[in-house]
Amino acid sequence: MSRENIADASKPNAGRIYDYVLGGSHNFEVDRQAAEHIIKLLPFIPKYARLQRWTLQNIAAELTEKRGYNVIVDFASGLPTEDHIHYNVPEGTIVIYSDYDPITVEYAHEILGDTPNVYYFEADATEPEKLLNNPQVKSLLTDDKKVAFVLWGVSAFINNDGLIHAVRYLHDWSGPDSCLVFNVQSLNRDDPTSQKFVEYYRSIGIPLHIRTSEECLDIVHPWQLDGDDFISLIDWHDFGQDELAEEDIHSFGPMGGGSGGYLIKA
Ligand SMILES: C[S@@+](CC[C@H](N)C(=O)[O-])C[C@H]1O[C@@H](n2cnc3c(N)ncnc32)[C@H](O)[C@@H]1O
Repeated sequence: MSRENIADASKPNAGRIYDYVLGGSHNFEVDRQAAEHIIKLLPFIPKYARLQRWTLQNIAAELTEKRGYNVIVDFASGLPTEDHIHYNVPEGTIVIYSDYDPITVEYAHEILGDTPNVYYFEADATEPEKLLNNPQVKSLLTDDKKVAFVLWGVSAFINNDGLIHAVRYLHDWSGPDSCLVFNVQSLNRDDPTSQKFVEYYRSIGIPLHIRTSEECLDIVHPWQLDGDDFISLIDWHDFGQDELAEEDIHSFGPMGGGSGGYLIKA
């Protein structure tokens, strides 16, 4: 996203468009107009957004209950509404959210109030060093630096250099047994509707970086995928199967639906 769009309430912002699509109220007229345009183009987008949040809830449980993480650091979090990570973790888990949009951060503070063990910082996902060296964040992290990082719903908004720097920094900084949960936001690049979608985003100042799973695997190196391949969000622990009609699943085709996986420190 261009720097001017980040905190400018007169220009559409990806996080606020997403909030509107999810049925939230933390958005402006300009975001609503952009969202309506996108929904007209791809009517299943609201379901896609919900699917993305369902998978996040599942990830929250998997990271804590199955994989034993006590600290989750989430980048490009958007709004921490009821469908976000901290709603589905055991008491005592530390959840550190962040986003580079100051308006989102302000709304997030309003939403969270004084929820225990949940924090929200303004930070650019492409500069994780700034967040991790923030003295308040440092005081929340344990000496073993065993952390579960989450980069969900944002890879398409970040260019290759930014993404490569972020994942390598997280790999080098973190302690053994850390992990990174990564979402590939794929799209059929040959599909005319998908092309219109990308073109529309570009026209409102939000360039999208669409990649295949293979391209993402190269980018996330040296993190190692836990499993053979990224898993489609549609197949993610059967999420969405009941909610999505057959034609929606078909519609996810051009959008790819995205996929995700757990990357572990090699
Ligand atoms: C589509 S929302 C996804 C929110 C959440 N991660 C989820 O999956 O539900 C994308 C968010 O990424 C944020 N964002 C985009 N680029 C970013 C960057 N470089 N650093 C931090 N946040 C970023 C936007 O402000 C927006 O809130």
